[in-house]
Amino acid sequence: MEYQNIIVETKDKVGVITLNRPKALNALNDQLMDELGHALLAFDQNDEIGCMIITGSEKAFAAGADIAAMADYNYMDAYKGNYVTKNWEHILRVRKPVIAAVAGYALGGGCELTMMCDFIIAADNAKFGQPEIKLATLPGCGGTQRLPRAISKSKAMDLCLTARLMDANEAERAGLVSRVVPLDKLMEETLAAATTIASMSLPVVMMIKDAVNRSFESGLTEGVHYERRLFHASFGTHDQREGMKAFLEKRPANFQNK
Ligand code: CAA
Repeated sequence: MEYQNIIVETKDKVGVITLNRPKALNALNDQLMDELGHALLAFDQNDEIGCMIITGSEKAFAAGADIAAMADYNYMDAYKGNYVTKNWEHILRVRKPVIAAVAGYALGGGCELTMMCDFIIAADNAKFGQPEIKLATLPGCGGTQRLPRAISKSKAMDLCLTARLMDANEAERAGLVSRVVPLDKLMEETLAAATTIASMSLPVVMMIKDAVNRSFESGLTEGVHYERRLFHASFGTHDQREGMKAFLEKRPANFQNK
């Protein structure tokens, strides 16, 4: 697939996808979401890649779904076309970690996309919000469900009902983002985190992502049971023996992703 709306690069074992529709502040139209899904799934299947990053520009990660593209939709266009789920949720099929590196606006679908990533590193100029109410519509890609889980019902209601934007520091205090870094260090810090993850044992990385995600889908007893099964499964890997042996022999581990 030839990409028109994203830039795809690899940096060692990290796949970096940059959303690139600068004139529309990276508004997420169908073409962009098709390309993003294609690139993510290609990295997921690439044995050389251990972690992915999605980022945007300094001004906007993404200012939301493309309002110009959907302004004339009627109910049937939206319902029969399965808007927006049809090409937005490829990211949920990705088994390797995906980090959102967010500068500038992450609004509406842009904020929802960050929440579909595994964690968010924000530049100090980042602004998050679900301002769909100003368009007389509502978040359409999980915002009303993932935001309360991330930042509490009260804050999610506040953002979704008033359309106010939350800055990076508030987002970190609220638990939406894992860390805030200076804008000029955003890619350096995110790449360092992604490179660290990519240096670990890939099957175990995938088990940990799976286990943490399970905490959102299950009760505590079932989630802990699921974690235990994966913990036991890690003892079936070559890398677990290597990791523990390397620790005891006081040397770096040499993981082989098996
Ligand atoms: N869709 C389409 N185009 C968009 C866009 C969007 N979501 N956001 C910005 N743009 C376009 C603008 O129309 C403008 O294009 P022109 O230069 O051709 O006029 C260009 O990007 C620059 O935008 P602004 O001039 O508005 O830039 P600004 O710096 O003054 O304001 C902003 C920035 C506050 C982000 C403002 O652009 C804005 O409020 N954007 C819309 C945010 C929004 O409502 N997002 C939710 C969309 S609905 C949704 O996402 C549904 C869902 O859950 C799936």
